[in-house]
Amino acid sequence: MTSSSDAIGDSQEAAKRNLWLHFTRMSSYADSDIPVIVRGSGPYVYDQRGKRYLDGLAGLFVSQVGHGRTEIAEAGARQASELAYFPLWSYAHPKAIELAARLADMAPGDLNRVFFTTSGSEAVESAWKLAKQYFKLIGQPERYKVISRELAYHGTSMGALAITGLADIKYPFEPLPPGGVRVPNTNFYRAPEFVRDDLDGFGQWAADEIERAILREGPASVAAVYLEPVQNSGGCFPPPPGYFARVREICDKYGVLLVSDEVICAFGRLGYYFGSQRYGYQPDIITFAKGLTSGYSPMGGMVVRDELMEPFTEGTATFLHGITFAGHPVSAAVALANLDIFEKEDLLGNVRSHEAAFRATLEKLNDLPIVGEVRGAGYFYGIEMVKDKATRETFSDDESERLLRGFLSQALFDAGLVCRADDRGDPVIQLSPPLICGQEHFDEMEQILRAVLTEAWSRL
Ligand SMILES: Cc1ncc(COP(=O)(O)O)c(C=O)c1O
Repeated sequence: MTSSSDAIGDSQEAAKRNLWLHFTRMSSYADSDIPVIVRGSGPYVYDQRGKRYLDGLAGLFVSQVGHGRTEIAEAGARQASELAYFPLWSYAHPKAIELAARLADMAPGDLNRVFFTTSGSEAVESAWKLAKQYFKLIGQPERYKVISRELAYHGTSMGALAITGLADIKYPFEPLPPGGVRVPNTNFYRAPEFVRDDLDGFGQWAADEIERAILREGPASVAAVYLEPVQNSGGCFPPPPGYFARVREICDKYGVLLVSDEVICAFGRLGYYFGSQRYGYQPDIITFAKGLTSGYSPMGGMVVRDELMEPFTEGTATFLHGITFAGHPVSAAVALANLDIFEKEDLLGNVRSHEAAFRATLEKLNDLPIVGEVRGAGYFYGIEMVKDKATRETFSDDESERLLRGFLSQALFDAGLVCRADDRGDPVIQLSPPLICGQEHFDEMEQILRAVLTEAWSRL
């Protein structure tokens, strides 16, 4: 009979020998265990040894309704028994139809047509392909470029990576598909000097930079602008007031599509079904994934305006794009059960009524010398760490390496908090808890962060 410590040892050995972790330095586990999470319940997950962690990142911005929801699992199982798989290539199945209608109903304005994918990257890339083919069909074949913001993460497949604004993760895969153009993001904490104390002016400038990019590239060559409602990468940059209104105006002026990449910001993360609803702007396409199923099964997609579908409704016109598992019946059933929980438990209401308390609890950390800024919206926050609060000086690459990789990530996990310590821009800790969380969980996050950040400062 094998003991549980033998079983853990065996699975560690197999994980190290056979499993390739994503965006992970495998060498960092040469002398330590790979964390193995075996189950979850509500906002908590448990490792192989039974230790509990608060899932302050909802897995990876995914687990909106929390873990261990048997009603979603059962909905998936029922669907698998009835019809496990059939493609959306020339056929439909009831759950995809029901889900598409429900999403169209929830989405703002005339975004009524849903194209499913299996992931966020595929959603982002599908939107680009749609934009390109749409413009070819309506007689504007030169439009292929896409504008996105510095540091923004839009996925990893080659097309999505061309839209992503993170030089370090693009470089090894260059050359990428041509057409990705970068503009400044809305990090007000690092705003240029001339708008440093003027949030409205900063927002106006950042939006106008999109117009300048369109003019620089040639308006007839630009197909779309990709923006997240709150930019994740870099550490939760909310839009300044007026930013999206101005962007919409610019897109209309030059006939460019506005793609709201809501792979993180949809499904309650900001207290609304779609992030664009929170900020009151009308996208032409919304891309989504993650929270649609709360991770009980993978699914992504895009919901697009009627107008974008029109050229595809006549004659031989066909959107020449498809993915075998897109709109998978089990994922569609799971998504519907997930959305039922949103309604039954009023999760949007929970986020809206608690978000001020979440912010206030995290802002208590402002008394620590290492905390430069706490920023975000809804249940989506970033804490930027600095070396000098007064000057906002950030850490050197070496300090950042020691701080984030050498200490913080592991220390926060050891202290029982799943969150993300990221240095793709300036060093930040990101929090995105399940939408069922309340004050006790905010307090738990604050207490763990306080202890670990205090120790991090003393080690610098
Ligand atoms: C805004 C945004 N777009 C696209 C993606 C890519 O999604 P996926 O990892 O499902 O391909 C992500 C993933 O985090 C994201 O945050």
